[in-house]
Amino acid sequence: MNDAVNESRNDSVGEALSVSPALKGRDFITTQEWTLEELETLFELATRLKRAKAAGEATPHLPAKTLYMIFFEASTRTRNSFETGMTQLGGHAIALFPEHIQISHGESTRDTAKVLSRYGDGIAIRHCIYGEGNAYLREVAENADIPVLSMQCDVYHPCQILADYLTIREKFGETRGLKLGVAWTCAPNYLRPISVPQSLILMMPRFGLDVTLAYPPEFRLMPEIEEQAKANAEAAGTRIEISDRFEDAFEDADIVIPKSWGPHVTTRHPDEGLRLIEAYPEWTCDAERMALGKSHLIYMHPLPADRGREVTDEVIDGPQSVVYDEAENRLHVQKALMALTM
Ligand code: CP
Repeated sequence: MNDAVNESRNDSVGEALSVSPALKGRDFITTQEWTLEELETLFELATRLKRAKAAGEATPHLPAKTLYMIFFEASTRTRNSFETGMTQLGGHAIALFPEHIQISHGESTRDTAKVLSRYGDGIAIRHCIYGEGNAYLREVAENADIPVLSMQCDVYHPCQILADYLTIREKFGETRGLKLGVAWTCAPNYLRPISVPQSLILMMPRFGLDVTLAYPPEFRLMPEIEEQAKANAEAAGTRIEISDRFEDAFEDADIVIPKSWGPHVTTRHPDEGLRLIEAYPEWTCDAERMALGKSHLIYMHPLPADRGREVTDEVIDGPQSVVYDEAENRLHVQKALMALTM
């Protein structure tokens, strides 16, 4: 590609940034706090950044900026997509683990937030302990002078849902009227957060999707989140249905996202939680369930997936699966998020 074309394509990203609403300095803890217009701006920029990367064009829109990433839990996609994204934007990201910084000796959240604000340009946090994570992010945000970006908490995983929506839009174009099935699945090795299904039911109806959420009774989500999701759907003229029948998420669906989560709302006892998960081994995504959807049904999962229990290899490795496109889109939406806020 010649320099003139390179320049004009780079201008396309720069132009999108220059006309974007005033998002610099904004936190991103839940999509609920961003308007549809602001989210649309992010998707538009993510698409331009994705095209620029495919064309081999540099997009150094955050030169000499630093993002701190505090991880209370493990990560493969989130850490590497944020860190790689900062590199591609011309900045730098530093992964911090509580046991290696003074949080381990009890340094206050306020002091941590204020000190990092004096050095860098953004603080991203993953803290998923149920009943603690979101409160921690909020406390950092109250005390920081730089944007706080969620890398997942106990209530929300907004970056995952941005990537999910971009993937759906790439596959289908218009999203109004599509049926999205979100189903609980059986993965009894550990208690996953409820933040992915909660963020899905909050945002997808705002973009025109009808959502069917299926889970066994003990795996209900936070009542206030289900209520907010219903209010979002009503305002958008879309539908949310909640069922205790696995197949309801698949029947006549365009997209399914079957994934496991813990019964955090029902019990705080880990052993009891694992026992409840094991009570529903038939909640597995297989070819038979996939056949219930429309002929173009796609399978999505935020990963990591528990192969053989949440989903068969035949489905996750099959032609309906878009899980690697979905994982890749974490990079593009988060680059847009960082470029807009930092
Ligand atoms: N989907 C997701 O957040 O993956 P990681 O836990 O690997 O970051």
